[in-house]
Amino acid sequence: MDIERKVAVITGASQGIGAALVKAYRDRNYQVVATARSIGPSDDDDVLTVSGDIADRQTAERAITEGMSWFGRIDTLVNNAGIFIAKPFTQYTEADYAAIVGVNITGFFHITQLAIAAMEMQHSGHIVQITTSLVDHARSDVPAVLASLTKGSLNAATKSLAIEYAKHGIRVNAVAPGIIKSPMHPIETHAQLDAMHPVGHMGEVSDIVDAILYLESASFVTGEILHVDGGQSAGH
Ligand SMILES: NC(=O)c1ccc[n+]([C@@H]2O[C@H](COP(=O)([O-])OP(=O)(O)OC[C@H]3O[C@@H](n4cnc5c(N)ncnc54)[C@H](OP(=O)(O)O)[C@@H]3O)[C@@H](O)[C@H]2O)c1
Repeated sequence: MDIERKVAVITGASQGIGAALVKAYRDRNYQVVATARSIGPSDDDDVLTVSGDIADRQTAERAITEGMSWFGRIDTLVNNAGIFIAKPFTQYTEADYAAIVGVNITGFFHITQLAIAAMEMQHSGHIVQITTSLVDHARSDVPAVLASLTKGSLNAATKSLAIEYAKHGIRVNAVAPGIIKSPMHPIETHAQLDAMHPVGHMGEVSDIVDAILYLESASFVTGEILHVDGGQSAGH
């Protein structure tokens, strides 16, 4: 075990932004704990994969406990796992509500609590939530109250945690994306989604990765909700 090397835990790491984050942190020589339901073993000795539902505390316990025992420390947690269900408010089902609260809120709660306990032992750490710019600019053509309810809560919790742990050497930030070209959005929807951004196009996965890597190195930045949204939160 090399105690000089940093360790990042990435949730929702099987595809999209999460899979790109695993690669980006490995490129920075971090060791990585990558978790998602469908993730398989990695052939990279510096990537530990943990498969499971992030809403289940046991998944979080395995990710943090096995990460500590394999790599010896936890420096960064990226709460990237998330689901998005857009519907008129009255059409949301109880199953929709349970699913989105389970992944976006309960998932955040379990693994963040366990990661912070590990970070406190070394008096340092960094946590990033991926939220959404929709929280700040609701749209009549994208009814998504459960996205606002859950991701808005994460924005608020980001500030609360940042203040609670500021003197413990643990920074807490969020990235609020616009609409990003990930597997979440089929290619045939892209033209319509491009038009929803003041800059005239969707974001790339690399735009979100770059923002997280900036926050990783920004030692004086905590409690920040960094919008990476092609101008959406500024206006239309
Ligand atoms: N793409 C966008 O336009 C956009 C915009 C704003 C915010 N975001 C946020 O960015 C984050 C990543 O989005 P993305 O575009 O990369 O989405 P994605 O391609 O749909 O990937 C979502 C990831 O979350 C994991 N996940 C979903 N449910 C899970 C569960 N119950 N337990 C564990 N893992 C679960 C998935 O893995 P498994 O299916 O293998 O479990 C997958 O790895 C999400 O939090 C999303 O809300 C995305």
